[in-house]
Amino acid sequence: MVHPMSFLVLALLFIFFNSSLGSPLSYNVLNLGARPDGKTDSTKAFLNAWAAACGSETPATIYVPPGRFLISTAAFRGPCKNSAITIRIDGTLVAPSDYHVIGNVGNWLVFESVDGVSVYGGTLDGQGAGLWTCKAAGNSCPGGATSLEFTNSNNIVMDGLTSLNSQMFHIVINSCQNVKMQGVKVSASGNSPNTDGIHVQSSTGVTILGSSIKTGDDCISIGPGSSNLWIENIACGPGHGISIGSLGKDLQEAGVQNVTVKTVTFTGTENGVRIKAWGRPSDGFVKGVLFQHATMVNVQNPIVIDQNYCPGNEGCPGQVSGVKISDVTYQDIHGTSATDVAVNFDCSSKNPCSGIKLEDVKLTYMNQPAQASCVNAGGTASGFVEPTSCL
Ligand SMILES: *[C@@H]1O[C@H](CO)[C@@H](O)[C@H](O)[C@H]1NC(C)=O
Repeated sequence: MVHPMSFLVLALLFIFFNSSLGSPLSYNVLNLGARPDGKTDSTKAFLNAWAAACGSETPATIYVPPGRFLISTAAFRGPCKNSAITIRIDGTLVAPSDYHVIGNVGNWLVFESVDGVSVYGGTLDGQGAGLWTCKAAGNSCPGGATSLEFTNSNNIVMDGLTSLNSQMFHIVINSCQNVKMQGVKVSASGNSPNTDGIHVQSSTGVTILGSSIKTGDDCISIGPGSSNLWIENIACGPGHGISIGSLGKDLQEAGVQNVTVKTVTFTGTENGVRIKAWGRPSDGFVKGVLFQHATMVNVQNPIVIDQNYCPGNEGCPGQVSGVKISDVTYQDIHGTSATDVAVNFDCSSKNPCSGIKLEDVKLTYMNQPAQASCVNAGGTASGFVEPTSCL
């Protein structure tokens, strides 16, 4: 039996030698008691590694070696004493398979009020299947957790992160500035409920590049208060497409502005590029959106604006959306629709969509030109546009 104190002494020696050698401080979670067996709860070791890295006056690295590390739930909170924390993950973080453990906490892994955190590699295994089954059976189940959230944080990098089978959303960016995500892989069953791939809200300067998202809800969803977003080189499907929305749920709501979505392949998805707003009063808005170079492969609704979103017909019937949608461009969108109506602009009678531009669109349904439908939508078409524009 080794005295537990000796681990602490070893860890301290390790830390001392690292810093005395002048290299950035590095904390290997194994040295802090984590076990790569997928069964031993390693939460404390991860939190201790975070406390050390966050408390360091100089740049610090947390290293997670190969293996499966069980984490019950963990909040990595700032502010920290340095703004250059690197988390290098060669292993897999595993959520408890029993969804009652996380219960209604809402988040599995969350970073709060941090600045300058970069995550390289890593796999997050949310083990969400049990909760999906519970929900599908119509039982009363906990709401479920987002696998990874950054909230109230700035200057974040995620490169090469994989998220599997989240209970609810995979990755959430909330109230953040300057976030770069690259080479993210998201995977969950096409019929897993509410498993949005990447959800962004109340954030500015978020870039998502070169990522592959297969899931049961939106591949990427963009909520109120999002601006200066750049999304490029994405493979989406199965999933519900890339959505701006749902917006306009609240009477007072921040708008969505300056969003570029380019070079995306949608395969067998429910939607392609979508804007959706609740059919109820709101001061929300969407303006300055470019959807460019999209390939649709058997997509049910390739281009859609839906301002009559009203799930369960509660709190909206008889009302119209207050969200103002303007300056939305669809450029070089082509491929196949799985339904007759490939372009559907269903805008608000009180706030018609304006400045909608279609440029070089070619969408077919069963080898024939598809149809377009416009309600309260104004704008222009240029170049080759099929289905024939109804703007
Ligand atoms: C729009 O967002 C991009 C980043 O996606 C940014 O580079 C550009 O400056 C923004 N434009 C305006 C007018 O803010």
